[in-house]
Formats: sequence, C-alpha cells, structure tokens
Amino acid sequence: MSKFVAVAKTSELQPGEMTRVNVDRQPVLLANVDGTFFALLDRCGHQRAVLSKGRLEGDTVECPMHFSRFDVKTGRLIRGPDFMRLIRFSEALRWIGRLSKEPRVLLSPRYFWAEDVPSYEVRIEGDTVLVKV
Ligand code: FES
Repeated sequence: MSKFVAVAKTSELQPGEMTRVNVDRQPVLLANVDGTFFALLDRCGHQRAVLSKGRLEGDTVECPMHFSRFDVKTGRLIRGPDFMRLIRFSEALRWIGRLSKEPRVLLSPRYFWAEDVPSYEVRIEGDTVLVKV
C-alpha cells in the first residue's frame, strides 16, 4: 500500500512553475497552480515524453514533443497530439531531431492519439508537499 511521500518544500515551487520529482521510482510532475499543488505521472499520454520539460500555462501542461495538452489538475487529455504545429519550420526541425533518435515512434499504431495521464493525491503538511502514487 502506497503512502504519502515528502517531495518538496512549498517555497521551492512558485505559482506557475512545475518540476519533476520521484516517488517510489515513479517520475512525477509536480505543479503549482495559483498556490495549489498538483501531481501527475511525468509521462505524456501520447508517446511518453517528459511532460515537465513542456510548458505550464494556467492549469494546462503542454507536451514538448507533439504538443498534446493535459489538465494538470486531473491528467485529462484536453487535445492533441497537434501535428499541425509541426508545420512550423523550427518545430519541424526539433521534431525531426527527436525522430532520428526514436524512429520507432512512427511505427506505433498509437501514434495518432493520446490518452489521459494518471494524477496523484497531493497533501500539504506545514511547508512540505507530499504526494501519494
Ligand atoms: S509525446 Fe507528448 S504529444 Fe507526443
């Protein structure tokens, strides 16, 4: 049975910031949205890119790889993957660079859709953020 694990001090993550922490060897995205902390599996529901390397906008996290967007409060897929953005030249170059390192991504039948990301319970005790996976 899992238990809450201390992962950070509340002062370490300002509103609008996110980071990666590890809980029981699970990569966890920890986000501060307007002073409230949320935790998700730090793997995109599309091709498992590291979500914490993406962008946090309000309560939405955008994957850095193909721009799927997830509700950081629930892990729910909002939209994506967004292949149209790859038409932008600079983003196409970035994507091709990644593809050269992971060519098998195009062979997956799951390439064209994404799924929700698991979310985790967060508790604040004093100035400590705890997560249960
Ligand atoms: S890996 Fe995140 S959108 Fe493709």
